[in-house]
Amino acid sequence: MPDDTPEFSAVTGDRASRPISRRSALKAMGLGGATILVGASGAASYRVFDNGVLDAGSGAPYDAWSQWRDDDSPKGAVGAAILAANPHNTQPWIFHVTDRSVDVFADPSRDMPAVDPYRREHHVGLGCAVENLVLGLGARGFRAEVKWLPDPADETYVAAVAFEPAPVSTSSLHEVIGDRHSNRGPYRAQRVPRTVLEGLSAHVAESPDVQLRWLASDSDREAMSALILEATEAFIDDRGQSEESFSWFRNSRDDIDKHRDGPTLDAQGFSTTTLTVAKLLPASSRSAGDRFWLDQTRTVHTATAAAYGIITVPGGDHVTDRLQAGRVLQRIHLAATADGLALQHMNQVTERIDRERQLGLPATFAPRLQDLVAQPGRGAVVAFRLGHAIRTARPSPRRPLGAVIR
Ligand SMILES: Cc1cc2nc3c(=O)[nH]c(=O)nc-3n(C[C@H](O)[C@H](O)[C@H](O)COP(=O)(O)O)c2cc1C
Repeated sequence: MPDDTPEFSAVTGDRASRPISRRSALKAMGLGGATILVGASGAASYRVFDNGVLDAGSGAPYDAWSQWRDDDSPKGAVGAAILAANPHNTQPWIFHVTDRSVDVFADPSRDMPAVDPYRREHHVGLGCAVENLVLGLGARGFRAEVKWLPDPADETYVAAVAFEPAPVSTSSLHEVIGDRHSNRGPYRAQRVPRTVLEGLSAHVAESPDVQLRWLASDSDREAMSALILEATEAFIDDRGQSEESFSWFRNSRDDIDKHRDGPTLDAQGFSTTTLTVAKLLPASSRSAGDRFWLDQTRTVHTATAAAYGIITVPGGDHVTDRLQAGRVLQRIHLAATADGLALQHMNQVTERIDRERQLGLPATFAPRLQDLVAQPGRGAVVAFRLGHAIRTARPSPRRPLGAVIR
């Protein structure tokens, strides 16, 4: 797949006619000429080393992506579980492995109280991990049975995944566990056929309480894009959400090596050139990062979304429903990967809905999302965009198994 493609494109426009220059891209990043000169005058070689310019996606923080099949035992399936999508790459999980089950616990120290005050995404991410775990156990010759919230006295004990020997069961979903990444780059001006969307919807069938709503028409996509943009602005205007989000961003290779979590520059979907320049420059401030995120959301993420998907559950507030929604979300992301499609989770709207509720603010987003989803009695849990990628996504770091198996 070509990499040094123009930074920006639009589903409805001509990709080649809409590139913006690197200069404007850097300006949009809040990085002016002065900082570029500093980089060019000697600090650059230090940044090449310090910021991992030459080793994007390699080294110990990325080992999990190549080692997830190495161990045939049930414990090895945890290596698949930790590759799951999860909010802000907080990896909010702890696993306990016995000879009959893998118990999955939430790690409350990895909460995001301003971004995710009701732990909606936290629980969805745990559901994603359980899906990979079940697929990983199946491929190792173990049939798994999931019991959600097995101990009412311990809310962190989210799932007991009991297993017993069975014939090996592999699937196309299992095969792409190590290839699935969140793709935040531009997507092609190419619609996803309705039959393909319906094929992805089939993965919801196993979970009767979970439903998937596609927004693929021009008017639905425009309405969702507008809502996402407005929610992004509200998010960055909210100091608590902005600061908390920024605190998880890993700006240097040192940070990545130390924490092995959080979003990184490598995972932002940039071309190689932009990524290299961004890494050479001094780290962005929070406000410059926020402005850049808003700009990317406007000119890349929403502008090139071929379709949006929204996962809903009854009511929207039950932990079990969210865990189940996470399993479905992970299946859809894996199925999209197997179909050669790109997917980016986009949850600014639900994050603002929860934040308005937490702060007792008027509900400005909830009724509009509800109207768009048009499923009375059901609540949106997570949303994502889908399309044909222009660039391959790069992997994000993972903590080692030793840090999450206890
Ligand atoms: C519940 C949930 C919410 C997420 N929300 C967003 C989001 O709003 N924007 C985004 O770019 N990525 C979002 N993500 C993707 C995560 O940031 C991503 O899964 C994580 O950084 C790990 O990267 P990977 O998916 O490439 O392995 C979300 C993921 C989950 C499971």
